[in-house]
Amino acid sequence: METSVVKIGFVTISDRASRGEYEDLGGPAMQAWIQSALRTPWQACARVIEDDQALIERTLCELADQQGCCLILTTGGTGPAKRDVTPEATAAVCDKILDGFAEQMRAVSLRYVPTAILSRQIAGIRGESLIINLPGKPSAIGECLEAVFPAVPYCIDLIDGPYLQTYDDFISAFRPKHAIKKD
Ligand code: MTE
Repeated sequence: METSVVKIGFVTISDRASRGEYEDLGGPAMQAWIQSALRTPWQACARVIEDDQALIERTLCELADQQGCCLILTTGGTGPAKRDVTPEATAAVCDKILDGFAEQMRAVSLRYVPTAILSRQIAGIRGESLIINLPGKPSAIGECLEAVFPAVPYCIDLIDGPYLQTYDDFISAFRPKHAIKKD
């Protein structure tokens, strides 16, 4: 596994975007948000795939196990519709589920839209990767990441990932005092 460069996975899960019927706005929105947030140099591994559970599972495994992404963000497929299976695929490949991420994302999202309750988004750990589901609407990406990202760098420390540093005027990582490394 290549570990010298920090890799982040971005997975757009949408039948229509994967067929090219509409532009993938979610993938670029996730990358733009991370670009604003992360001071640590990173490299993107981006995928656009259909709402197929086996394919989502294979893609998450590839990004975690082969690419060595310390963080994998997904967008789309979290709702109640028949083809929405992103949370099931995520749960199937994770060793541990971090319920607090979903609780916080939905709680904060409800301040923006009452339909936030429809998202079944989850987050969890596979090996040394943190996987976070985000809803498909591009505006939801920032709303959700802002709600949970302060805990992401320390979570990645705890699973033996790279030490991620943020641009504090955009978003501040929170770490217990003993876990803070000086520049
Ligand atoms: N969360 C936030 N923050 N902002 C939103 O606009 N849209 C909701 C919800 N969560 C929304 C949100 C809607 S309308 C739906 S249907 C669900 O996410 C699921 O979306 P998905 O199936 O595209 O993942």
